[in-house]
Amino acid sequence: MSKEYVVAVVGATGAVGEEMMKTLEKNKFPVKELIPLASKRSEGKTVLFKGKKIPVKVLNEDSFKGIDIALFSAGGSISKQYAPFAIEEGTIVIDNTSAFRYEKDIPLVVPEVNAEDIKQHKGIIANPNCSTIQMVVALAPIHREFTIKRILVSTYQSVSGAGRKAIFSLQNEAKQHLNHEEVEQGSLSHQIAFNLIPHIDVFMDNGYTKEEMKMDWETKKILHSDDIAVSATCVRVPVFRAHSEAVNVETEKPITAAKVKELLSKAPLVVLQDDPHENLYPMPIKAENKNEVFVGRIRQDESIKNGINMWVVSDNLLKGAAFNAVQIAEKLIEFKLV
Ligand code: A2P
Repeated sequence: MSKEYVVAVVGATGAVGEEMMKTLEKNKFPVKELIPLASKRSEGKTVLFKGKKIPVKVLNEDSFKGIDIALFSAGGSISKQYAPFAIEEGTIVIDNTSAFRYEKDIPLVVPEVNAEDIKQHKGIIANPNCSTIQMVVALAPIHREFTIKRILVSTYQSVSGAGRKAIFSLQNEAKQHLNHEEVEQGSLSHQIAFNLIPHIDVFMDNGYTKEEMKMDWETKKILHSDDIAVSATCVRVPVFRAHSEAVNVETEKPITAAKVKELLSKAPLVVLQDDPHENLYPMPIKAENKNEVFVGRIRQDESIKNGINMWVVSDNLLKGAAFNAVQIAEKLIEFKLV
């Protein structure tokens, strides 16, 4: 019989944690035992895995004894605090937060793009930011063929990227607004219902937000190229699930929309949805609960010599988080690293 693994999900009661468990089940990941971990607030709660209710355990320093793989998604500070205890126990950590992404020795992996980097791991593999993952899945084939010089990207990010509280905020604020009640602002920095917030994560000294800088730092690391210039504007939008991105790329070599369409029609995990005459283009509502990265509106940027515009949509909780993390765990098995 092939080997089965004890898998912990840290942050199992959260929006991403729930999807991690669903993805483990859906992908038939060989789980011997699932250990859901969360904070003291979740004591007494259960999660559903393979039709069974499993009691949530409170995360502590001794949580990792006997655990082969731990998927972390409880915030960066929790990863920083508890991942070292996991590593001490020989547990392999797949971390969905930004806690370790920029450390030189820690691989940052999107399996369709740089799976081989997993082989360099020393206990932790970082899962990139949701917006970066879907963008590089679409751009890696273009970079290999045409060498990307510069990326300009604007994101339209759903509230689920900010966790369960933000999902409830959009629901409550929308209800109150439509009922002509006074809107009580939820967990985001402003009302999100019927609004757009050009502010995700903290502001940095250069005027960008950290979310925007993540797209720069992480794209360079995943594509192994410090020469790619990236400028991002990240915006929270009143959509529950799936992030959308308007992406403009400038390449070294001459590029055409037709060639990009041909390349992306064969690219792993990419689904081309590009028939404007039939009103066919990717939309967040159609990408919900799907693992793929949907690309459309591919057209020449007529304002520069070698440029392309496109529209990229994917479910931020799946390819942007849980699905990518489980794919990394599957690669660990494939590469015989666990
Ligand atoms: P809990 O539900 O017990 O607060 P989301 O991103 O959807 O907000 O989810 C965050 C996840 O991280 C939840 O599962 C939450 O558990 C978990 N979490 C937050 N703080 C801690 C902590 N101090 N220890 C363990 N898990 C935590």
